[in-house]
Amino acid sequence: MKVLTVVGNRPQFIKAAAVSGLLRAEHEEVLVHTGQHYDKEMSHVFFDELEIPSPDRELGIGGGSNTSQTARMLAALEPLIGEVGPDAVLVYGDTNSTLAGSLAGAQAQVPVVHVEAGMRSYDRTMPEELNRVLADHVSELLLCASDLAAANLRREAVAGRVEVVGDVMVDVLMRSLPRARADTETLREYGVAPGEYLLASAHRAGNVDDPARLGKLVELLRALPGPVVLPLHPRTRARAQEAGLLERLAGAPGIVLTEPLGYAQLTSLLSHARAVLTDSGGVQKEAYVAGVPCITLRANTEWTETVEAGWNTLVDLDAEAALSALAGLERTPPAEHPQLYGDGHAAERCVAAIGAL
Ligand code: UD1
Ligand code: UDP
Repeated sequence: MKVLTVVGNRPQFIKAAAVSGLLRAEHEEVLVHTGQHYDKEMSHVFFDELEIPSPDRELGIGGGSNTSQTARMLAALEPLIGEVGPDAVLVYGDTNSTLAGSLAGAQAQVPVVHVEAGMRSYDRTMPEELNRVLADHVSELLLCASDLAAANLRREAVAGRVEVVGDVMVDVLMRSLPRARADTETLREYGVAPGEYLLASAHRAGNVDDPARLGKLVELLRALPGPVVLPLHPRTRARAQEAGLLERLAGAPGIVLTEPLGYAQLTSLLSHARAVLTDSGGVQKEAYVAGVPCITLRANTEWTETVEAGWNTLVDLDAEAALSALAGLERTPPAEHPQLYGDGHAAERCVAAIGAL
């Protein structure tokens, strides 16, 4: 089979790291990088660190609004799919690159495979929720991280075949955790000690694009007991700069502001943290797998199993709620830690399911 895979941003590079190698052992893969993420530390670093095959095609499409970005990707993918003639188009997650890849594939009448299908926050103000729902409904094979995701899809009566395979990011994390836990060099570099700092990340449009919301986020981060290691997403940096708030972060005594980190450093800091505060989907899931309490800076999440298991608390941007959740999670961490998103072999099941298309 010839599979055309569309990736474009940070979480998708990690997902491709789980799948590409195994896929290429049995099939031909044409890896397309849309260019949605383009900075070295948002893109190339993952290809190097995680030994992802170099993209076969780079579309160079980044920046702009969600609609214009998706439209430019669609326009570039149509002729590319025509030229390559794939047997399947493979997409991951919920970004603009996911929607463009899935719609271009479906319009060309090529079967679309969606990995991480069925996640729902039920918040249609999030661009990611629109991207996920639309990608799911044009896909022929929907590969889910959990039973709950599969149940969501059945309720929506999607047309494609639904299969629970586990989470491919968990595959990568489970392989990486022993090294991450053994690494103390990274902690030394950022001046923190195991179990004595918080790791934070934030980049959701709903949290950073509106200066008033961004102001609340900044004050919440400043109110936390430091040190707080904060690798800053370029969107957040740009919006903080525009709103005149960057100095409130950079100048805060408890905040250790860094550039976006590579995967090895990020997972090392995650695995040794007291707790994680984030609005990232991937980081919520990774905190759970690493057994680190998570406080989510959103009013909802698509990773609801982590909340039900007691390891994740939703606080939106309420600083008081964040502080009390932090105290609560530290006082009484949950006794149970079930395997919510698979056993670390999701990618093998993805490749088997794709082979059976
Ligand atoms: C995108 C995804 C989001 C995902 C996130 C992962 C959508 C709608 N959003 O959000 O679901 O959680 O990636 O990190 O697809 N920028 C740079 N350099 C880069 C990349 C981005 O400077 O390498 C800046 C640019 O100003 C750009 C802005 O960040 O306009 C937003 O980038 P974009 O890819 O559109 O959205 P993200 O916020 O990264
Ligand atoms: N990540 C990283 N360095 C960072 C921040 C994140 O390597 O500085 C990794 C981390 O594994 C995370 C993934 O990138 O799960 C995706 O992160 P992001 O928060 O950008 O995207 P989301 O999961 O919210 O779509």
